[in-house]
Amino acid sequence: MDRTLAGELGAALASTRELLREALEEGVEHFERRAAPPRTEAPAIATPMPVRAGAPAHRSTAPPPSAQPAPLAPTPAFPSGVTLDEVRAALGECTRCRLHEARNRIVFGDGNPGADLVFVGEGPGEQEDLQGLPFVGRAGELLTQMIERGLGIPRSSVYICNIVKCRPPQNRTPLPDEVHACRGFLDGQIEAIRPKVIVALGKPATSLLLGRDVAITRVRGVWQEYRGIAVMPTFHPAFVLRQYTAETRRLVWEDLKAALGRARELGGVFET
Ligand code: URA
Repeated sequence: MDRTLAGELGAALASTRELLREALEEGVEHFERRAAPPRTEAPAIATPMPVRAGAPAHRSTAPPPSAQPAPLAPTPAFPSGVTLDEVRAALGECTRCRLHEARNRIVFGDGNPGADLVFVGEGPGEQEDLQGLPFVGRAGELLTQMIERGLGIPRSSVYICNIVKCRPPQNRTPLPDEVHACRGFLDGQIEAIRPKVIVALGKPATSLLLGRDVAITRVRGVWQEYRGIAVMPTFHPAFVLRQYTAETRRLVWEDLKAALGRARELGGVFET
């Protein structure tokens, strides 16, 4: 085979492998063919659509009309010294993006407003949407266990929140404009709490806090920074549930221990 062609094929295979590995981490279980647009001059290529765990197998692939980006109301930037109550009040009964349409409850956050350790997830799931609290479904049970049994501190001593405050349909990853509409409130929450350490749960939370697209397998366990606050990226508990291996659990356990240790070194105080 021609050497250049062999090189190109090798590179294409490597990037496909990386894409698939990241898709697996994100909960994608299979790919569907997206309906191809009507043919014009060039043949249209059907694009595979990743489908996340829990999404119904048969659903329309056409985006609902409300999925079209709508003009967004500006998200406030909060000054230092802002309180969590002020951030919550500014969020109000938010209609800044389409996620408000199907939500039952806004899931703002839960825990100690003076926490030295903050966990940031992706977005509420079904139980969270019903109860108005973050991480109270299956992934939440695991996170709570890791905090309480693993780290030996009460869940109420930390603060837990998400990138977006309303449940994305079928638990899909929030879209960029939804993240954009909500991110000021996450920034405001962190500004209000000023924790010693943030644990970023999964790729979307880590990418948002670091301001760049990351591969979670590469950055987990490696200290990062967000506005001067130490960030420990780790796997999302939903991923740990799907990949319930001793190795995955060991890695997350190492990350959480490191996060608590660093928070304590920096003067953080935790009830036990
Ligand atoms: N997954 C998240 O990212 N956040 C929740 O609140 C629940 C599940």
